[in-house]
Amino acid sequence: MSNYIKLINNFDSLKLNTFRNNIDSFIDEVNSGKINVVDAFYSLTEKEMAFRQDRVNKAMITTSHFPYVKTFDDYDFSYQPRLNKDEILDLKNLRFIQNNENIVFMGTPGVGKTHLAISVGIECAKNRYQTYFINCNELIMQLKKAKLENTLARRLKHFTSYSVLIIDEVGFLPIDGDDSNLLFQLISMRYEKHPTIFTTNKSFNHWGEVFNDSVIANAMLDRILHHCKVFSNYRSFL
Ligand SMILES: Nc1ncnc2c1ncn2[C@@H]1O[C@H](COP(=O)(O)OP(=O)(O)OP(=O)(O)O)[C@@H](O)[C@H]1O
Ligand SMILES: [Mg+2]
Repeated sequence: MSNYIKLINNFDSLKLNTFRNNIDSFIDEVNSGKINVVDAFYSLTEKEMAFRQDRVNKAMITTSHFPYVKTFDDYDFSYQPRLNKDEILDLKNLRFIQNNENIVFMGTPGVGKTHLAISVGIECAKNRYQTYFINCNELIMQLKKAKLENTLARRLKHFTSYSVLIIDEVGFLPIDGDDSNLLFQLISMRYEKHPTIFTTNKSFNHWGEVFNDSVIANAMLDRILHHCKVFSNYRSFL
């Protein structure tokens, strides 16, 4: 067996896929004298690192449970001239995570609230922050089930542990007082610990109706809005 074949086998054993796929061009380039061996090796290792980074990014994005994958690059800000594009794109810097700031995307249906929440979430996931996307009603169902099964404390701890939690569609369906209290508990536990991103079609003065309890709604809003960026200047298409 030639050393070349042994080299290929070693790459396979070491799972160095990018080395394996680029070794021929590496050898050809070095042999031709176009590139010195240090630069060629550096380029090869950069390719391997990029491949691994991409694989981790994909895994982090998969575990974040996004309903679809769309980024800021897919968002057409010209449709939303009143949105502050710079302020939204600054979310990519993830300062809101360092500052434990919540984010609320508020607006009428179809304006891109979920899209933007996912775009922020993807940046978080790519930067290795444990991120999780969940629909508000699904979250409440899960907390209700946990309460019935006497595992509420554990479930709340689980949802509190995410570095970034995205709660989509707050207010799409009314929530009764007991269920609102479950969500309030979660928001209290995450308060000043980890940021939460919300999307909602209801302005804050309607949250009392949404949660069927103005006291809980106000207590929730106190905690959410204490450190929060609200994006609500969407142009409505309705
Ligand atoms: N400005 C935009 N640029 C590109 N795509 C957009 C834009 N606005 C909305 N979309 C697309 O339109 C679709 C609906 O957007 P999205 O689901 O984010 O709306 P929403 O505000 O969350 O609506 P809902 O209140 O019904 O949940 C998505 O596929 C989204 O990518
Ligand atoms: Mg939505």
